[in-house]
Amino acid sequence: MQQFKTLDDAQLAGKRVLLRVDLNVPMQDGTVSDATRIERVLPTIREIAAAGGRVILLAHFGRPKGKPNSEMSLEPIAAVLGDRLGQPVGFAEDCVGPVADGIVQNMQDGDVLLLENTRFHAGEEANDPEFASQLAALGDVYVNDAFSAAHRAHASTEGLAQHLPSYAGRTMQAELEALEKGLGAPARPVVAIVGGAKVSSKIDLLQNLVKKVDGLVIGGGMANTFLAARGESVGKSLCEHDLADTARDIMLAAASAGCAIILPEDAVVARAFKANAPSETVAVDAVPEDAMILDVGPKTVERIKGWIDRAKTLVWNGPLGAFELTPFDAATMAAARHAAERTRTGALVSVAGGGDTVSALNQAGVAEAFTYVSTAGGAFLEWMEGKPLPGVEVLKA
Ligand code: 3PG
Ligand code: MG
Repeated sequence: MQQFKTLDDAQLAGKRVLLRVDLNVPMQDGTVSDATRIERVLPTIREIAAAGGRVILLAHFGRPKGKPNSEMSLEPIAAVLGDRLGQPVGFAEDCVGPVADGIVQNMQDGDVLLLENTRFHAGEEANDPEFASQLAALGDVYVNDAFSAAHRAHASTEGLAQHLPSYAGRTMQAELEALEKGLGAPARPVVAIVGGAKVSSKIDLLQNLVKKVDGLVIGGGMANTFLAARGESVGKSLCEHDLADTARDIMLAAASAGCAIILPEDAVVARAFKANAPSETVAVDAVPEDAMILDVGPKTVERIKGWIDRAKTLVWNGPLGAFELTPFDAATMAAARHAAERTRTGALVSVAGGGDTVSALNQAGVAEAFTYVSTAGGAFLEWMEGKPLPGVEVLKA
């Protein structure tokens, strides 16, 4: 059933192993604010190093658009990675050419080296075969452990696999196995929670989900667009008024597919977008003109818990409110804890993904209790949308 080769199939001793990882971690004031992605790649790095491979890490950071940009250097990440790994991680100031080549030539078996941001070269995002062969020249074997970048057909995620013997790393392997288990043939009822700021970035997802799930909870800023499309006044809330027709189409598609759409019935509103801003709970048809919705209210939370109780499978992408600001994290925390509890009792398979979702589950202290938490954002969405991921397809034999 496994369609791709894993580290079990690879000869690693003495080999230069180009390992694609996703180190695109959230940073705040120069420090890593959530190291989940770094933690996830440690087992693969350790396994390759322990087998005597020379680990050469390839990664991107941010969107520098093909040009070097000191603000998007991976150099600070090398130190963090070294700390977590308990072993020094070298750094090369370019991912191809003489700089990288010189350092790679001096590596010993078991060493770990991080190459500078692959997106400092235009050939990366263009998936330029010439750039891919420059990368390939640095290694003997290619391992992709970056499921979360697998929706990009870039040189380091796709092109390289056409030049070298290619394998899935342990994180990629675990991710694909878990998603298949959770969503391949899910136990019903299936409930999805979709949140986050914008409908515009999740139209394909919503359109696909209404055909596949029994209940779709919509929260976060994107719920405001649905409320407005239904005729509610949302005051100063984040809202994509130009997507009213799209929201109505999604609601119609849901109705004809027999999928219940669960929108907020009450909301926590404030006049300022900041932690501890004075707030009040109102019904969604009574949002004051000068206020903005920052979380779903307690009645809505109870309703969401009821849907979680009914579900055998839960798929979650995106927070229900402005979870990074207390007290507007309340609904996301309550729903997360409830889903974790149902999972612990064995009643629920819970699969969550997306950068903000991972942070929210960590904040609630329940990430470990979920059946599987994917660190992927866009890739998780595209997978849920049913689209083939180039970085996964190319690993299939
Ligand atoms: C992510 O953060 O979702 C991945 O690292 C991919 O980054 P990208 O959206 O800039 O391609
Ligand atoms: Mg992203």
